[in-house]
Amino acid sequence: MTSSSTPRYDLEYIRNQFPALSLKANGYPAAFFDGPGGTQVPQRVLDAVADYLIYCNANAGGKFLTSNNSDLVIKEARSALADFLGSDSDEIAFGQNMTTMNYQLALALTRSPGRRREIIITEIDHEANRGPWLALEERGYTIREVKMDPETCTIDMEDYRNKLSENTFLAALNYASNGVGTINDVEEMIRLAHEVGAITVVDAVHYALHGPIDVKKIDADYLLCSAYKFFGPHIGVLYGKRELFSELASYRLRTQSGSIPHLIETGTLNHEGIAGASEAVEFIADLGRRFGSHWEGPSAAGGEQLSERRRHVLAGMEVMERYERPLADKMLEELSSIERVRVYGPPRDYPRTSTISFTIEGLNAQRVAAELGQKGIFVWDGHFYAIRLVEILGLEPYGGLVRAGLCPYNTEEEVDRLLEEIRRLAENGTGKS
Ligand SMILES: Cc1ncc(COP(=O)(O)O)c(C=O)c1O
Repeated sequence: MTSSSTPRYDLEYIRNQFPALSLKANGYPAAFFDGPGGTQVPQRVLDAVADYLIYCNANAGGKFLTSNNSDLVIKEARSALADFLGSDSDEIAFGQNMTTMNYQLALALTRSPGRRREIIITEIDHEANRGPWLALEERGYTIREVKMDPETCTIDMEDYRNKLSENTFLAALNYASNGVGTINDVEEMIRLAHEVGAITVVDAVHYALHGPIDVKKIDADYLLCSAYKFFGPHIGVLYGKRELFSELASYRLRTQSGSIPHLIETGTLNHEGIAGASEAVEFIADLGRRFGSHWEGPSAAGGEQLSERRRHVLAGMEVMERYERPLADKMLEELSSIERVRVYGPPRDYPRTSTISFTIEGLNAQRVAAELGQKGIFVWDGHFYAIRLVEILGLEPYGGLVRAGLCPYNTEEEVDRLLEEIRRLAENGTGKS
């Protein structure tokens, strides 16, 4: 919610921030619809990584200039990511990627199994929020899988309610589907899990680029995301709610700090990646500062004042969403009207991201992606590790889905190019190759 005097979205300015956008593929200007697999990176993030390696390149805690600089960069990064997620700085831990951090979390949380031995996962989630929990069967946990309605690609909330019980130890939830873009009502799902006394772990990797996250408002116990999905380098970020996180029995060296957030940060961190992640948050805040209006939305849960950067981050998220929404609507509408094209995902008025997945009847998804790639249009094909969802949709034999995701740097012209090629393929393509 912002005031009415919103400055114009300057697409040219935004595109100029991303050096990769000038790439050509096969003589065509590259059109990056591969954002859900990882976005492109603005110059200021590239500079932050390089600057770290020039001016701050040292291990933590030394008594000399570069180590002091390094400590400051990492401290600042925790504060930036805390503003991104709506938490406190010491509730933010860094690691290799979401998958690895989730495994660490799963192993730590179940180190001494108690009476509650059931863990809930969902059919809609990425394997990174299923595999680490499924692995716990060997520790005596029962994994209960919540159904996804294959028609609407939404979570069956009744099934979720039925699976929660006083035996539920933990619910591993998906904020938004990287497969088809559905945004799930995690706030309600967390509320229901807490009602039975279960811990919640939220996979926000796909959602993080598409909507504001307020960990306090949704009351997540743990939430994970990955900076490379929102303009940063390849590092993982874990939020842990202080009361629980500080008690986490993580596997760690005796030389490692046992206090939050360090207790889960094994070994030397990817310092330059962290510097870049911090700058990625600044990039989003800058979008809010330039093109958003003063954030007048709700303040943080508990009523405390939001930081300047948090307000700009929230405005920046809204700026991106507002720009992408009409492009996504156009893509959804026009793709759905092409004969032999089937779009998968939630119904029109259901919350969703600007990530759109589809198939062309008779054409393997891999072939569609390859044909588009030849024309400089970058889309993903397959299951994108949301393999359970693709299995349930019955699409594995056909190469899975074709996925086109919008980012704030995509243009309407790129969308038109994509649509034109899909029309051509749908008209001419033959055979289930
Ligand atoms: C929804 C979702 N969850 C988890 C992951 C895994 O993240 P990472 O690559 O950081 O392990 C991804 C990556 O594609 C994702 O899209």
